[in-house]
Amino acid sequence: MENFSEKIQSLRNEYSDLDLTSEDLNQDPITQFTKWLDEAIETQIYEPNAMVLATVDENAPRSRYVLFKNIVNNNLIFHTHYESPKAVEIFANPNVSGIFYWAEIHRQVRFQGIARKADSQISDEYFKTRPRGGQLSALASAQSNIISSREDVTNKIDELEKEYEGKEIPRPDFWGGFAIEVNYWEFWQGRRNRTHDRFCYKPEENSWKIERMSP
Ligand SMILES: Cc1cc2nc3c(=O)[nH]c(=O)nc-3n(C[C@H](O)[C@H](O)[C@H](O)COP(=O)(O)O)c2cc1C
Repeated sequence: MENFSEKIQSLRNEYSDLDLTSEDLNQDPITQFTKWLDEAIETQIYEPNAMVLATVDENAPRSRYVLFKNIVNNNLIFHTHYESPKAVEIFANPNVSGIFYWAEIHRQVRFQGIARKADSQISDEYFKTRPRGGQLSALASAQSNIISSREDVTNKIDELEKEYEGKEIPRPDFWGGFAIEVNYWEFWQGRRNRTHDRFCYKPEENSWKIERMSP
């Protein structure tokens, strides 16, 4: 274990010479976010749309990855099971926080916001684009329930496959999107010698106040 601790402690990467100045930033954080996400996509980062989403369970925070899937009316959309722990937590307390990290380009985007159930049209449209296998597993999985074996789910998928053979699979009511209205953004550009550039956006009247933060 001692060796392993040393191994972890010796992990040390230098970041790039890329910098981020207030002139680089778009006044609109959604435009800034989409620019960075697009650059992450173009860099061919694996799953650049994966984000950690934190929710609050009574007083304790919980987090997990979800896939960011769209921007609608300036809200960030992800999809999930509406009876999953994360959804139950959001319905009880809509305050969420999320984070993207694109290691290859030394960038992090963090946000806080309010999550609400997305319009059913958004969920329907996205569900239709999912491969059939993904549609069936959404129907078959009572997400995060304890099960005795994987077959509990694969058998259910087999049954549903027969039931829906040759038919369109409808989106179940218990599965769909959440829309996050972001009220705080933070952009981090990693730099050499830990002199990282950081900027936050806070709402101010009808626009956003942008401020530099200490790394
Ligand atoms: C990269 C990645 C992407 C994921 N995307 C989603 C997603 O979009 N929706 C989802 O419900 N779960 C997704 N998951 C699974 C969740 O992390 C989590 O295990 C599951 O949703 C149950 O979370 P909960 O018990 O907090 O509700 C993803 C996992 C990984 C590793």
